[in-house]
Amino acid sequence: MADAAQSGAKPAVLLARRIFPDIAGTLREHFELDSHEGDEPLSPVELRQRLQGKVGLFASGTEQISAELLDACPQLRVIALMTVGHNNVDLAACTARGVRVSNAPDVLTETTADFGFALMMAAARRISESEHYLRRGDWKQWRVDLFAGADIHGSTLAILGMGRIGQAIARRGALGFGMKVIYHNRSRLAPEQEAPLGARWVDKEQLLRQADHLLIVVPYTPQTHHAVAAPELALMKPGATLTNIARGGVVDDLALAGALARGELAAAGLDVFEGEPQLRPELLACSNVVLTPHIASASLPTRRAMCNLALENLLAAFKGRTMPTLLNPEAALSRPA
Ligand code: DGY
Repeated sequence: MADAAQSGAKPAVLLARRIFPDIAGTLREHFELDSHEGDEPLSPVELRQRLQGKVGLFASGTEQISAELLDACPQLRVIALMTVGHNNVDLAACTARGVRVSNAPDVLTETTADFGFALMMAAARRISESEHYLRRGDWKQWRVDLFAGADIHGSTLAILGMGRIGQAIARRGALGFGMKVIYHNRSRLAPEQEAPLGARWVDKEQLLRQADHLLIVVPYTPQTHHAVAAPELALMKPGATLTNIARGGVVDDLALAGALARGELAAAGLDVFEGEPQLRPELLACSNVVLTPHIASASLPTRRAMCNLALENLLAAFKGRTMPTLLNPEAALSRPA
């Protein structure tokens, strides 16, 4: 990195995803850019090959960055993710090798919270299910219980994971819809954060038992793998809904499909899936689940802001400035810029 700057040559960067052309253009002004133009992700072998000689990588949440890959690409110094989730990156391996990694928090918080709330409402009020019924031509008459679902207002919103997005969802529930907010998180919010929302920390069992609507926004880590599986689902009320906008793998999708099919849970809203973009056929077979293709942060302004933040991080790294959303400041100590 320092060598490139000293010689005046532009640092070599791989853009692993097709992004907005104007933002790619700005990257090209500052870097010797190798850009992957397709929407198919690069295979691990292609990623390794394309990273040869690259000092920077602009990536999303799908490129797997392992210790093996880093060892095969020793020139790599900086990885800028355009996503907030970074479970695709072995952060410890990056830190140990002096590779700095940034993600894209904050810029997507409100957009993602909007979507989580919409998905929860769509599941509770059976919006997709009733639209499919109508499109099939099955609507012949009004009926007193036609697609009668669950209420949102005045119900209990149970949030698993109370980070920035969880808190933004809590605000919508408490202040917009008069919901009672309970949450479970490793750390409790400060009393002055809980008070305006009337939010109450409960243990995980109570969260599941009391939930009318369970919203899952916890980051995916080895500790949260299948955090909601058959035993947890069995604690939930039969009329409850579950919405997952966190990551596939936090919920055991097969167990969830079983609970939905047996009517042990009223409905679900899912934006993320184990093994996505493939979905379990058992889930596809359930009419009481709203399914969307990992688009919670996908408003145009927000997706642009996420790309711009990754760009800013790369520029900062290679111009000797502090990266705005650096995840592993310790990395600079193992191999200073
Ligand atoms: C994120 O930023 O982590 C979103 O889930 C998009 O992948």
